[in-house]
Amino acid sequence: MPEQDLKAADRYSLGTRQESEIFHLKGANHLGWGMQNRLSNIFDPDTGHAVMLAFDHGYFQGPTSGLERVDLSIVPIARYADTLMLTRGILRSVIPPTYTGGLVLRATGGSSILKELSDEQIAISIDDAVRLNAAALAVQVFIGGEYESQSVHNLTRIIDMGNRHGIATLAVTAVGRDLARDARYMRLATRICAELGATFVKTYYTDDDFETVTSSCPVPIVIAGGKKLPEADALTLAYRAIQEGAAGVDMGRNIFQSDSPAAMIQAVRMVVHEGASAKEALEYYRSLLEDSPRD
Ligand code: R5P
Repeated sequence: MPEQDLKAADRYSLGTRQESEIFHLKGANHLGWGMQNRLSNIFDPDTGHAVMLAFDHGYFQGPTSGLERVDLSIVPIARYADTLMLTRGILRSVIPPTYTGGLVLRATGGSSILKELSDEQIAISIDDAVRLNAAALAVQVFIGGEYESQSVHNLTRIIDMGNRHGIATLAVTAVGRDLARDARYMRLATRICAELGATFVKTYYTDDDFETVTSSCPVPIVIAGGKKLPEADALTLAYRAIQEGAAGVDMGRNIFQSDSPAAMIQAVRMVVHEGASAKEALEYYRSLLEDSPRD
């Protein structure tokens, strides 16, 4: 038995309403506590934005340039990311369990670059996702692709599994070789994913009308970085995407294939979380290079 508390409770603040805060992410206000908490581990509640470091490329293309040794290239810079996007194989084998940022686990797979990429199946159980403390599961969706219907079915099944456990679903819009990466396609693909229940959607930035993509998608959008660009161009891409309504970047090659991945991810953070211009972020990148020319 605890000692009897002799001080009478009297701080009832009568007349002061208990406030309910508005959740910091678009379209997420009516999600459950657990899912909102996991989303807060992906998107910084102070800015509503996220820097996700994507290095799941090996799940269909093996040891990608820059990811030959994830222990040497990614682990040292993981602390600069809000969230890691990766496979469970790399998570278990390489990432220290002391990592406390968000985890977005690749949840589909089954085809390689040697075959038709859209022929994917669900590649993880919800039990294992819970065991690994995933904040979200990432599902590749091939709108207009050969296995469109199968990939959409993968998405809806993962959403149902995730909803039962408070784990979010990231729909990753994969654009086939024959499809135009324009705003019209991205509006179609992102909206279908959101309508079917995705918690947030990953897509590519479009040079024209990207604002119409973010505006017509009722849940947050993060952009993929795509092929390696010069640092100035990659920072401009991130800047434009954020200014035009993206909630974050899920960037891989433009970080881990950079001359200085550590400097690059810190420059990207400046754009995403501080609203810095691409020019300011590039100056910061260069100053970090001068301070520490080798990573
Ligand atoms: C590739 O299939 C993966 O889903 C990547 O996570 C995604 O493409 C983002 O990486 P990057 O910025 O290199 O395009």
